[in-house]
This record gives sequence, C-alpha cells and structure tokens, in this order.
Amino acid sequence: MGLCLGIESTAHTFGVGIVSFDGRILANSKDQFTTTKGGMVPNDVARHHEEVKERVLMDAFSRAGVSWEDIDVIALSASPGLPPALHVGLRFAKELSRAHKKPLVAVNHSIAHLAIGDLITGAKDPVYLYVSGPNTQIIGLAGGKYRVFGETVDLGLGNMLDKFAREIGLGFPGGPKIEKLAMKSSNYIELPYSVKGMDVSFAGMLTKALRLFEQGCSKEDLCYSLQETAFAMLAEISERAMAHTGKGELLLIGGVAANKRLCAMLDVMCSERGAKFYAVPLEYSGDQGAMIAWQGVLQYLAGERRSPEELDISPYERIDDVEVFWK
Ligand code: ATP
Ligand code: FE2
Repeated sequence: MGLCLGIESTAHTFGVGIVSFDGRILANSKDQFTTTKGGMVPNDVARHHEEVKERVLMDAFSRAGVSWEDIDVIALSASPGLPPALHVGLRFAKELSRAHKKPLVAVNHSIAHLAIGDLITGAKDPVYLYVSGPNTQIIGLAGGKYRVFGETVDLGLGNMLDKFAREIGLGFPGGPKIEKLAMKSSNYIELPYSVKGMDVSFAGMLTKALRLFEQGCSKEDLCYSLQETAFAMLAEISERAMAHTGKGELLLIGGVAANKRLCAMLDVMCSERGAKFYAVPLEYSGDQGAMIAWQGVLQYLAGERRSPEELDISPYERIDDVEVFWK
C-alpha cells in the first residue's frame, strides 16, 4: 500500500503526517508555536519551524514504523499562509524530494481541513463550517469547486477570540482559554449580533466586549457572551446554507471546532432539521500534517506529480481558486 508524507507549515504549527493511500493515518506528529503573552510574529514562527522540523519528521517516521523507502510521494501545504512560515515548509519539501527522489504535490491547506473531515467522519457531501484563526466560512462543493456561500466580512472567529484573549491578558491561543472561562458563567451580556445575508461580522462585538471589560465586566461573563453571540450567528448561516443547497449534513472543521459549546449548538440545530452533524475530533480539527498527507493522496492518485522546480507557495490562494480535479 502506498504512503504519502504530508508537511504542514502555513501558520503556528509545524506538522508531519504519514497516511496510506486507503486512508489509514500512521503518524501525525506536530509542534505548535505558542506564547504566553502576545500574538504570532511571522519571523518567530518561521524560526520555530526551522528548529523543530527535523525532530517532527523523525518522530513521524518512528511512530509510523516506516522509512523513506516506503514513502511514494511528499505533499506540501503550499497555500494559504504566512509567507515566512510557508517558506520553511517549501525549502524542506524540496530538500527531502531531491534527497530521497520522491515526487511532490502542492495542497491547499483549507481544502485539506475539509478532506480530513470527510475521511474521519464519513460525511459524504456536507456543508462545511470552517472556523479557524483567520477563516470563518460556510463552504460546499458545487460545480467542481468548493464554493464559499458565506463568510466573515472582517475578522475570523479564532482571531477575534485570540485578540480578545490577548487584550485581557490571557495569552495565545485564546480560544481554549475563553472556552474555559465561559464555562464559569451563564450571565449573558448583550453584544452586537451581526448577520448580513450569508455573511457575519465579528469586529463590532470585539470592540464592545473590550469596552465592557474596561468598564469592569467580568472576564467570565464576557467570554460566555462572546461565545453565545458568535456561535448563534454561525448556527443561523449554517442552517440557511443547508436549506438553500439541500445538503443534509453539516461538518464543523478548523481549530475552533474543538469548542464544545459550538458543537452543542450546531448539533441541536441539525437535529431539529433532521440533518446530520459531524465535528472533527481535536487531533484532526486543528492544523496538522495528516490532513496534508491525505489531501496529497487524493491529488497524487488523480495524477498530480511535481518536481522540486515546479513546487511553489501561494500565500493568498482562496479555496474557490482551486479546481477540484480529484473527485
Ligand atoms: P487556518 O488553518 O485557517 O490557516 P489557523 O492556522 O489559525 O487557521 P487552526 O489550528 O485551524 O489554525 O485554528 C486555530 C484557532 O482555533 C485559534 O484561533 C484558536 O484560538 C482556536 N481554538 C482552538 N481551540 C479552541 C477552543 N476550544 N475554542 C475556541 N477556539 C479555539
Ligand atoms: Fe488550519
């Protein structure tokens, strides 16, 4: 059985996954850049990736119990992402391809999030709610492309949570810390609920929550209220996307999918309309190499092969720029 080795380096996580052509995940090693204060500085992230890359690669091989001889193809997460971080992955993939004479494929990181979700949950043709740091999108496959039916017009949900957390001194990443504090409150403070058609906006609620924090509102109440407001907005547009497209499944994907309250709200909405709700488990919902390896398998089996000279990064590629040739 063939194997693909996937390299992830678009943002905070450096990851290496090894996945078989029939979808068995043999390894999913990673190391995440974190800070206790402040956000992500692209050059610091790149330095982190340089420091950990060899160790993460070795860890993946030892967990999978395989060697270079067993690998058929290397997949790189080539878009979108922070240019300095993407360059670390690009150089590494080229080096490894030349040293071990393996073909390359270039994967869109966002599409890889969707593909690993399908693999892990068995969803067939879902509406995807993709919520990560920078991204908040409602996506579905239509006419050979992943179409974005609705999205945030300003901040991504994760970035909004991270910014709020940073401003109130919780450190990075903020999402999990906000989730914990939110569990300690059930006191809802009204924040701007902003849905326009299929799009959402988070900037207003962030500004308002920060102002209320300065005025002395408790962290717990504000974390709770931010979650309740933002998640209800997403439930509303997810439901509308399912109604418009006639799709009967919702798949929650991206780093924020780790949030239990968000899952619970979407699950209730889906069961009320007789739809299936799937959430991708923690290990596969955030950034990691296994998703890149699996998307690499799909593209390789559909005929993609690149030489190191043909491999490049596209920091700003959108999901609907990509022609879906592997389905
Ligand atoms: P992308 O993959 O779109 O480039 P990304 O690199 O930011 O985005 P992810 O790992 O998918 O990557 O998402 C990270 C985000 O998820 C961060 O903003 C983080 O705060 C958020 N997050 C992680 N766990 C939770 C949680 N339990 N609740 C809310 N947010 C969370
Ligand atoms: Fe991601």
